[in-house]
Amino acid sequence: MSEQNTIDSIHHVLVVGSGAMGTQIGALFALAGYDVTTSDLETNALNRSRDEVRRRIERLAEKGIRSRNEVDAALARMAYTTDSMEAARNVDFVLEAAVERLEIKRQLFADLDKAAPEHAILATNSSAIPSSLLMDATGRPDRVCNMHFFNPALVMQCVEVVRNPLTSDKTVETTAELARRIGKQPVRLNKEVPGFVANRLLGALRDEALRLEEAGVASFEDIDVAARTALGHPMGPFELMDLVGIDVSYLIRMAEHGQTGDPGDLPHPSIEKLYAQGRYGRKTGRGWYEYAG
Ligand code: 3HC
Repeated sequence: MSEQNTIDSIHHVLVVGSGAMGTQIGALFALAGYDVTTSDLETNALNRSRDEVRRRIERLAEKGIRSRNEVDAALARMAYTTDSMEAARNVDFVLEAAVERLEIKRQLFADLDKAAPEHAILATNSSAIPSSLLMDATGRPDRVCNMHFFNPALVMQCVEVVRNPLTSDKTVETTAELARRIGKQPVRLNKEVPGFVANRLLGALRDEALRLEEAGVASFEDIDVAARTALGHPMGPFELMDLVGIDVSYLIRMAEHGQTGDPGDLPHPSIEKLYAQGRYGRKTGRGWYEYAG
């Protein structure tokens, strides 16, 4: 393994995918002083991402959380491209946050492995696809792992660092330290398990909420009220599904089912229905709830 695979060798980060997660993760790296390139297939997606980053981090200056200079410097450190492989040539760390589809990620990892410098760590933000399913698409399985952020990434403190059987200790240490340097709290998983830790906890609550709603025990709105006012959760499970994206929940369950073959891991029928109707939550203006504007 390359001797340069250390926290101090990381200066430039490539974030592949400019959806909700990739956008905010890119902003986090830039705010922590890293040069960031965010890539996506479409210029329109990148333009939306750039606007969202500006809006979110300008607010930090308005609120006095960051100085005007810090915010301007962070914005200046961010570049955008539709050519991920060209961008990968001079980066030290890659965080992939593309769509949750195994075949797409495997192709990306194979291509990134060819393009990125030898010392670079290739991490995936996936919560559903463990890096053991990606590592053999590369020639550097020891430098491949999951680095899993939570939505909204600018706010949520936890980052799960999940090793595959071949991930080196150094890669785990460097990735966990990187999470710390961008202000996050790393949680290390010593082995892969579907859903990792936080989503397994969350899934238990969500599945019970879906069962209660389906059985007509209470409305989804009231189940959310119970989670907020009886358990002190910042959001109820249905509000959270809308925030994370019904499409994301659907694809995560499909990926889990693909790994386990367990019919119990398939998306709940209500999620399938919303997914089929294109009601993806906040991003489409309608999911469980309706959103103005
Ligand atoms: N993006 C970035 N920042 C956001 C945001 C968003 N989408 N929504 C809210 N914020 C910021 C606000 O700007 C505000 O910051 P400020 O105080 O500096 O202005 C702060 O968060 C609080 O926002 P609000 O006052 O509007 O609302 P809340 O106090 O209700 O907080 C919340 C919003 C942070 C989203 C809170 O409701 C929460 O923590 N919800 C639970 C989120 C959660 O459980 N996430 C995990 C999802 S699972 C996951 O991501 C796994 C993945 O694999 C799918």
